[in-house]
Amino acid sequence: MTFAPPAPPTPPAASRPPGRRRRRGLLVTLIAVPLSVVVLLIAGAGIWFATNATRATPPAAGSVDFENPLAVPALAPSRVEDGVRVFELTAQEGRSSFVPQGQTPTLGYNGAYLGPTLVADRGERVRVNITNELTDSTTVHWHGMHLPAAMDGGPHSPIAAGATWQPEWTIDQPAATLWYHPHLHGRTREQVDAGLAGMFLVRDDEESGLALPREYGVDDIPVIVQDRSFNGDGSFAAGLGMQFDGVLGDTILVNGTVAPYLDVSTERVRLRLLNGSSARMYDFGFSDGRAFDLIGTDGGLLAAPVATTGIPLSPGERAEIVVSMKPGEKVTLVSNPPDPALNAGGAAFDVMQLRAAASLRPSSAVPDRLVDVPQPDDSDVAAERSFVMSGHNINDAQMDLGRVDLVATVDTSEIWTVRNENPLPHSFHVHDTQFRVLSVDGGPPPQRLAGFKDTIALERDREYRLLVRFEDYADPTTPYMYHCHLLWHEDQGMMGQFLVVEPGQQPDLKRPEGDTDDHHDH
Ligand code: C2O
Ligand code: CU
Ligand code: CU
Repeated sequence: MTFAPPAPPTPPAASRPPGRRRRRGLLVTLIAVPLSVVVLLIAGAGIWFATNATRATPPAAGSVDFENPLAVPALAPSRVEDGVRVFELTAQEGRSSFVPQGQTPTLGYNGAYLGPTLVADRGERVRVNITNELTDSTTVHWHGMHLPAAMDGGPHSPIAAGATWQPEWTIDQPAATLWYHPHLHGRTREQVDAGLAGMFLVRDDEESGLALPREYGVDDIPVIVQDRSFNGDGSFAAGLGMQFDGVLGDTILVNGTVAPYLDVSTERVRLRLLNGSSARMYDFGFSDGRAFDLIGTDGGLLAAPVATTGIPLSPGERAEIVVSMKPGEKVTLVSNPPDPALNAGGAAFDVMQLRAAASLRPSSAVPDRLVDVPQPDDSDVAAERSFVMSGHNINDAQMDLGRVDLVATVDTSEIWTVRNENPLPHSFHVHDTQFRVLSVDGGPPPQRLAGFKDTIALERDREYRLLVRFEDYADPTTPYMYHCHLLWHEDQGMMGQFLVVEPGQQPDLKRPEGDTDDHHDH
């Protein structure tokens, strides 16, 4: 990459070295005062530039001319071999038509951009044969999946160019909207932004027994939301929107469609929202402010639907919503400005238009009760740990593939306290497990955080207490990751590793082959 990313801003407290302000006499003062005014002006202009000029923003809500039918990712074909459901994914290069100025070089799975939707039932054994036809290494991580660390597809599982990787595991978690994407150390943003991402839907009997919209592509729609900017030749502009968050784009893509509309044929439609952007925070709602039902979050359905007019999602988070439509109407899914405490900035913009047919097939009302979501049980907590997100560090440390940051014991729970201590947008994602939010600043979490979560946005200076359970899969050699899911932050080293071991088992971390511990030069 040719752009120079801005250095992480220094937290305010550190920007005034002690002794710097001591006065040494009139002459010094005469020089220093005008000089500091100049310095302040330059610094001020820099902050203005960083927060305004380079923050690429989509045009204001109401201005997009929705002219393209929403693409719906294909369902991934599979076959059952000796009791294992087998999928095939090929990471490949391609070209996509997003903008009139030219074709965009992209990456995709089994196609030019994004990947097919994998669907499997709870209890099924699955295998994915992943062939890497890129010129670079990659990995495939199953975001939100509970599975052995060696199958998790983190930075310890690179797939060399030309190679095939065949992770296999048993689906053992409630029905949920999960997703998959590369996780190559230091290069995740680049590969995800180029188009490598897809959904993985887990189904189970509880969810199937509920009267919810469930016909894929008809009234149950994957909605992968990304923001991109384009160069004059149609290629993705990586540097244009580059600032403290990472790359922000001025054009919204849904499932790889610019200016998309969805033809709705039923009274109710279920949208599986995935913030597939690498840096942008969204607060999804509708142009007319209508209420909708939030029915599920990262790890599955909520206990009961939550009627709301907005659902904020940081990169990597998912939400399942059900929205009601009247015959013949049009309404736009928009993103409203996120809470200022998220440090995300921005204004309202359009995401996708829903166009209801003149007559709609009836849909059942959303059930009042959905699934049993147990009360979080923190009675047998084995350890408490705290995580401070600041600059591009977690607990003042940068990611090191050769260092284990913490060791958890299988079949125990821990309380993790997480805090974003500086005015940068950050989130917190944990692999392998779906955690529960016990409290936010000592109070109960909002309803949208009351279910199973694997990623949360961190409002500035608030304390999130998470109950994290390590149910299975002890492995003293391969770690899982926790990190900020703003992908540029992750690539800059805002990530740590944990092992899950048997009681008394010694950690024995293996570094990935060929790792040199220098990934910050990309
Ligand atoms: Cu969505 Cu560690 O990743
Ligand atoms: Cu993940
Ligand atoms: Cu971050």
